[in-house]
Amino acid sequence: MSQQNAPILFTGPDDLRQYISREKRMGKRIGLVPTMGALHEGHLSLVRASCEACDITVVSIFVNPTQFAPNEDFAKYPRTLASDLELLHSCNGTIVVFAPSVETMYPSCFNTFVEVGGITERLEGEYRPTHFRGVATIVLKLFLLVQQDVAFFGQKDFQQCAVIKKMVSDLNVPTQITVCPIIREPDGLAMSSRNKYLSQEERKQAVVLSESLLLAQKMFSHGEKDTDTVCRKVREHILTARDAKIDYAAIVDPETFEDCTELASGVVILLAVRIGATRLIDNIILNYSHSLIFCHKKCP
Ligand code: PAF
Repeated sequence: MSQQNAPILFTGPDDLRQYISREKRMGKRIGLVPTMGALHEGHLSLVRASCEACDITVVSIFVNPTQFAPNEDFAKYPRTLASDLELLHSCNGTIVVFAPSVETMYPSCFNTFVEVGGITERLEGEYRPTHFRGVATIVLKLFLLVQQDVAFFGQKDFQQCAVIKKMVSDLNVPTQITVCPIIREPDGLAMSSRNKYLSQEERKQAVVLSESLLLAQKMFSHGEKDTDTVCRKVREHILTARDAKIDYAAIVDPETFEDCTELASGVVILLAVRIGATRLIDNIILNYSHSLIFCHKKCP
């Protein structure tokens, strides 16, 4: 059995940059998987995709304060560097971890932010008005540091992926972006570091998100085209969970994020639902071939 090398850990940008430029000079292809740590199978699927496509995979682990509003969970967000490193050790590839401190990424004099307009104004942007500014800023900083060939993101954060693609296109950032499928628990719940916040009872209720998306997909497969009808059913199903409160359940065009009046293949249903105090998001891209949509943990 081949023994994997332990991930190489960098906490400072200069050491990381030096390492990357040496490897790039040797013609190595670099992949980047930006994360906030508390790694789970969803993150590991991105790491594996990168290890397959690239010679070196840089995994950034940084709980980014600028994407949290003051009333959000920045302080309590799980920080599990030791077990994250262990999980990464089990992946098959050359893995470099970049885990900087907040002071390294945002020294007290820091005063430059990236604002992506348009698509950031709806849905997540409405409920979390400063969120995407924080995401775009840290992601661009990471891109400039790592200068990767490809960056990997999960479809679970569907709007975030669109914001990053828009930033890359608008600012001519020389990177490819690969979006990987949502990884789900066996009962359908999309994997998320925030699932750890759910009590046992809330965890049972949280399954209504994925169930409602499957219900919508089923209605579409049976010929339903009316978005109001589908949206009503989705909401009704979510609200069968005692502690569920819907921030939004929207059926939108995947590029403009404008509401759709008619269902079609490629249209996306986006959910943000609070189960008790935990806010969960999920989505589905409607498709004629239903079986491809839900990729559970055991899928290859
Ligand atoms: O998706 C996340 O975990 C974060 O938003 C990201 C992309 C790592 C930026 O902090």
